[in-house]
Amino acid sequence: MRRCSATAAYSVFRHVGRVEVCGRREFRLSTIRNKSVPETMAGSGASPCLAMDNLNPNIKVMEYAVRGPLVTRAGEIEKELEQGVKKPFTEVIKANIGDCHAMGQVPLTFIRQVLALVTYPKLLDDPQFPDDTKERARTLLKGCRGGSVGSYTDSPGIEVIRKHVAQYIERRDGIPSDWQNVVISAGASDAIKNILKLLICPVDGKPPGVMTPIPQYPLYSATLAEFGMHQIGYYPNESRNWGLDVAELERSVSEARKVCAPRAIAVINPGNPTGQVLSRDNIEEIIRFAHKEKLFVLADEVYQDNIYADGCKFFSFKKVLTEMGPPYRDMELASFMSCSKGYMGECGLRGGYVEVINMCPKVKAMYLKAISAMLCPTVLGQVCMDTVVNPPTKGEPSYELYMKEKTAVLDSLKARAKMVADAFNSMEGFSCNTVQGAMYAFPRITLPPKAVAAAEKAGKVPDVFYAFELLENTGICIVPGSGFGQQPGTYHFRTTILPQPDKLKAMLQKFAQFHKDFIKKYS
Ligand SMILES: Cc1ncc(COP(=O)(O)O)c(C=O)c1O
Repeated sequence: MRRCSATAAYSVFRHVGRVEVCGRREFRLSTIRNKSVPETMAGSGASPCLAMDNLNPNIKVMEYAVRGPLVTRAGEIEKELEQGVKKPFTEVIKANIGDCHAMGQVPLTFIRQVLALVTYPKLLDDPQFPDDTKERARTLLKGCRGGSVGSYTDSPGIEVIRKHVAQYIERRDGIPSDWQNVVISAGASDAIKNILKLLICPVDGKPPGVMTPIPQYPLYSATLAEFGMHQIGYYPNESRNWGLDVAELERSVSEARKVCAPRAIAVINPGNPTGQVLSRDNIEEIIRFAHKEKLFVLADEVYQDNIYADGCKFFSFKKVLTEMGPPYRDMELASFMSCSKGYMGECGLRGGYVEVINMCPKVKAMYLKAISAMLCPTVLGQVCMDTVVNPPTKGEPSYELYMKEKTAVLDSLKARAKMVADAFNSMEGFSCNTVQGAMYAFPRITLPPKAVAAAEKAGKVPDVFYAFELLENTGICIVPGSGFGQQPGTYHFRTTILPQPDKLKAMLQKFAQFHKDFIKKYS
């Protein structure tokens, strides 16, 4: 089976100098920081109860490239710059992670005003706050026990927010949504993990597997590794702007059946790291495939507001499968949304939701029981989600400013999406698909054989080698394609489109110069 397993991802890290000696009482993690990790407890000489040889093996194999060793090194370089160490650059540009505010995006006034009011209700008397923000805050506080965001809420979230989410979905899709199918979460990650957890059960003696795109957002590979589930990779078609071919889905699932029981298919639309927006026809094909294979559909739709390319439109899986009619409209589906992406970019507040449809009621009861053990998602995250699904409407005092700020962010992202793809397509050895949506470009790069040999000599995967060279020479931090998975023998990397326009322009110029020098050095 062609599979990007957690083990494959792990091999990336072996190549960057991490040594793990498992199965022995003593261990040493010689990280790229060259800081040795103590082999005994706090220098006491006693061996730890929890050591590498009795640590959960799933934790050992899971990796999360977006925050991998390159990012660690980027952090060190930042410190070195602060200490006055001379480098060929003056700052590190973190183009590795979809963290909008960290890259200079300004929060929307409406969102922060509502958050301020619920956090410090005395501000409800302040005439500076528009009436609609106060009305939102009062409604939300009424939904909080004791009228405070400092209290626990129901585990699936505050009822009024779940109702607002359902109304938002109805407006988006033109299809009814039952608020009791909406579960608020601490970011989409939390919801994705909670749904995946339900699928951990062997079928006919075979371990469970989940189909994920390759390349994929590494939350999926990391979580599947953590849960001891199989990751069944399918390759979106790069030459069709990362569209999905049913023949490839068929290949992937039939090979997987030899070793595991495929139980679900995850589709990321718009795509991370690939930036594609799936057409309605393509979504219909995927739904027909999932129905035939009896797969639970996980629709990761956190970038639903980030659509840039002309002719592209976001269609939710729920809308498409419902409109396809029977038997598709009865399929089990979980659709994920987040307040970390879109135009709001409120990653740190950890707000998200999942809408689950057609789930067996008994299973749903188990699901709600399982999440109740974690009490509730963060209340400020829930409030943030509410501001996204219940924005100011025409005629309300916050409407004009809200629309101005939202449009400015999305217009700027659209311009940056084009700027990034154009820049890479003008560089020798690069090809980059149109960034139709989301926040990333995933260009393919042809590396000269001498560079591949140099990478091998350095004990690194070639794209990791390239990314380290880029970081050390320019301060630009990207994520190598091997962190997401890629067709064997191909090399890619992911960069975000998030640096603010001037910084992005400067970054791309630096990148182009670096690439020219790199090619010259290794050709
Ligand atoms: C495709 C995808 N799904 C889920 C997430 C997780 O988002 P959240 O911050 O809501 O947990 C991300 C974050 O980058 C993502 O790119």
